[in-house]
Amino acid sequence: MALLKANGIHKRFQGVVALNGVSFELKPGEIHALLGANGAGKSTLIKIISGYHAPDEGEIRMNGEPIRLHDPKSSHDAGIATIHQEHNLIPHMNVIDNIMLGRWVGRYGVVSDDECRRIAIRAIETVVPGLNLDLLGYQLTPAEGQLVEIARALSENAKVIIMDEPTTSLSPREIERLFNVMRDLKSKGIGIIFVSHWLEEIFAICDRVTVFRDGCYVGTDDIQNLDENTIVRMMVNTDVPELPLVERIPGKEILKVRNLFKQGVLQDISFNLREGEILTLAGLVGAGRTELVRCIFGIDDYDSGEVLMNGDQLPRNDPGAAVKAGIGFVPEDRKGQGLAGNLTVRENFTLSLLDKVAPKGIIKSDMEVEISNKHSEAMKVKAPSIEANIMTLSGGNAQKVVIGRWLAREPRVLILDEPTKGVDIGAKAEIHRLIGDLAESGVAVLLVTSEMPEVLLLSDRVLVMREGRISGELKRSDLSPEKVIRYATAEEVTI
Ligand SMILES: Nc1ncnc2c1ncn2[C@@H]1O[C@H](COP(=O)(O)OP(=O)(O)OP(=O)(O)O)[C@@H](O)[C@H]1O
Ligand SMILES: [Mg+2]
Repeated sequence: MALLKANGIHKRFQGVVALNGVSFELKPGEIHALLGANGAGKSTLIKIISGYHAPDEGEIRMNGEPIRLHDPKSSHDAGIATIHQEHNLIPHMNVIDNIMLGRWVGRYGVVSDDECRRIAIRAIETVVPGLNLDLLGYQLTPAEGQLVEIARALSENAKVIIMDEPTTSLSPREIERLFNVMRDLKSKGIGIIFVSHWLEEIFAICDRVTVFRDGCYVGTDDIQNLDENTIVRMMVNTDVPELPLVERIPGKEILKVRNLFKQGVLQDISFNLREGEILTLAGLVGAGRTELVRCIFGIDDYDSGEVLMNGDQLPRNDPGAAVKAGIGFVPEDRKGQGLAGNLTVRENFTLSLLDKVAPKGIIKSDMEVEISNKHSEAMKVKAPSIEANIMTLSGGNAQKVVIGRWLAREPRVLILDEPTKGVDIGAKAEIHRLIGDLAESGVAVLLVTSEMPEVLLLSDRVLVMREGRISGELKRSDLSPEKVIRYATAEEVTI
């Protein structure tokens, strides 16, 4: 019998159909992938299952029993736990307290703190052995935080664990560790709903796959019966075009970084970037790539060294000056830095353009509308209209708005930090094409990506970083995954 069943779920948000009568079934002891392009309705279904949204129609059953809808506590009590991408732990509480939070263990109604503690420690030991239990919520890495959330779910005897894009901020090693934990949960009979845009992950870990498209149920099948092309076709209903590989000839030098040094973070970084070149910063999560591009753009300060645009030194810690000099920056953390919440799609598109759309402080609205419509269409942003609030867009569509916003500004150097994180396979191909086109048109692109296929597909040249240093440089002609990995990980490399 199914552990969890969602039947005939409908959900609209202000006239937008997010789910159109979908069904979903989870068995005990299976890892079930929920797939679909950006905006397909995956997160919406998950939020309905966990009680955060009320469906307009439909029911959720656990072990055959309907659960109360739109009531997080009922879902939780029925054994449903949701693990958050950026963990949701209380920043100033330690690991144990975070696990015990709001729980009352004890027989005959007696709360026993000691017993709580024992259960919490046992759960941690199974999931993250060796974790320092005195660490506070904010001191945990995203990977540790997720594992602590899983431990909490285990200690509460969760039967269903839901993970919505859990791997997006994890390094390959952390992903492997998460997968091992998932296999262990599965062997305990727990059912897992897993969302990821990376098909390699789906093939590595999942037993069954359900695909949604535009809020509709497309199908469910065992992973053995599926291959990559079939899944992609179920998701987007067309073939995803491949990016033609073009030989680019970079132009003159435009951005120069000289001896950049930041205590404990960046060690003597120097490189040049040419017009029409795609230069990729590769390396493991935590190698210092995000810090480097934040320093170049002026969001963070550095101790010594210089950044020059067209031979002119940029002032430190002054993003405004970087923008004036023609640099655009798409940050990694789109929630924190990339998107202005509570503004519309239109306003987000034109935010970086205020001097153009609002020359004397007066916003020219027809110009704003025209620019937003043009870029919204070019990027195939799925939103009810450009007047929709940005926070209501699905993760991947919001990312497209952040990128589109900088394109509207026509920068000469564009820095992109993990631009396809959380973006579906079709949109990923669109973003790749776009980056290629930008370079074609002479824009210098500085790309940070942890995705090897992306490194191989796009880069004219790769700088590999490790522990705040540039540990290797590879031209397109010498590029191979093995070389990148060795530079990113090994102490001594002789290639
Ligand atoms: N709170 C909300 N208000 C208005 N519309 C919403 C809200 N939440 C989701 N939507 C809309 O519902 C649709 C489905 O979104 P959902 O977040 O479920 O997609 P998703 O499959 O998780 O996509 P992604 O892969 O990009 O995360 C989208 O069109 C989205 O804009
Ligand atoms: Mg989502």
